[in-house]
Amino acid sequence: MPIDRCICHKITFEELLHIAREKGLKTVEELQTENLGSTQCKLCEPYLRKMLETGQVSFPFGKY
Ligand code: FES
Repeated sequence: MPIDRCICHKITFEELLHIAREKGLKTVEELQTENLGSTQCKLCEPYLRKMLETGQVSFPFGKY
């Protein structure tokens, strides 16, 4: 099963990327400030960084 969402915030990376682009958010810290993702267990944080860098929204399990 790929990693494609912030489980704590119940939101997919695809949805997060869409919102980030709409709002002009470029860093994980900005997503966190807006309380959109990665404010609880933070396991999704490295994936969100990669998502913002590359636009990738689905990651093979155990890759990062
Ligand atoms: S999975 Fe994103 S904060 Fe827990």
